[in-house]
Amino acid sequence: MGRFKHLISIEDLSKDDILYILEKAEKFESIARGERKSKILEGKTLANLFFEPSTRTRVSFEIAMKKLGGDVINLTAQEAISMAKGETLADTIRIMSEYVDVIVLRHPLIGAARYAAENSDVPIINAGDGAGQHPTQTLLDLYTIKKESNLNNLKIALLGDLKYSRTIHSLIKALVLFNAKIYLISPESLKLPEEILEDLKGDIQYTKLDDVIDEIDVLYVTRIQKERFPDEEEYKKVAGSYKVDLKTLERAKENLIIMHPLPRVDEISPEVDKTVHAKYFKQAFYGIPVRMAILTEVLID
Ligand code: NCD
Repeated sequence: MGRFKHLISIEDLSKDDILYILEKAEKFESIARGERKSKILEGKTLANLFFEPSTRTRVSFEIAMKKLGGDVINLTAQEAISMAKGETLADTIRIMSEYVDVIVLRHPLIGAARYAAENSDVPIINAGDGAGQHPTQTLLDLYTIKKESNLNNLKIALLGDLKYSRTIHSLIKALVLFNAKIYLISPESLKLPEEILEDLKGDIQYTKLDDVIDEIDVLYVTRIQKERFPDEEEYKKVAGSYKVDLKTLERAKENLIIMHPLPRVDEISPEVDKTVHAKYFKQAFYGIPVRMAILTEVLID
């Protein structure tokens, strides 16, 4: 077993563990690009158990596993729910852990992955638990920053739905470990949950994008997490309330990078895609080597 058995929250990793995974991911890049072949996960099977829709995360785990010689079974939201047929998550996990070597779990409830890990003999990787955590996304976000910008002395703005975005809830905890200066920018009703903010001991403040666009190194944008709103009317009040376009970027630093976990709705105008700042598609690619590093860590190292 490697440095960790399960990957549930980014808080389970030390800064040293994170840096170790990022270095390891670097070694997998050529395999991810198809320049080198590997069979190190031959004989191992991964189950993608997704109780919520996903394409990017599920597909990138599948590609990462297959390019290392492993097998994958996929259970989409509908299949996962009907497999459960009303049985408890604990039972579903116990049964799956008899069949496969690692389970990648996405679930609408905060804490579901932690609970699954308590009931599993095989590693559980949290691919998103409601508005909770998304640690593999955080690792690929940090990898993107390391490759395309700099993890040291970082000034980063987190823009959008800070209330419900699990990518933000995960990332912000890691950024504090790296002593980043963090600017929070969001509509009033979508601010970071108080309990998360209180826990963080770091250089963090709310601001407006216009006030910091000329000093930040990274602009991390998120979509409004419509599916988490208890009330459609509340969503309508904030829908379309922020958008990054060429005008927003007029005073940006030359080497500013723009990131987004995707999917994008309307919060980054497509005209931005052609600029040197846009790194969100590359960021999606980096999900492959980073997930290779995670899978080998829990399966063989
Ligand atoms: C994110 C998620 O599911 O939290 N997507 C992803 O994993 N790439 C972000 C989102 O859905 O907005």
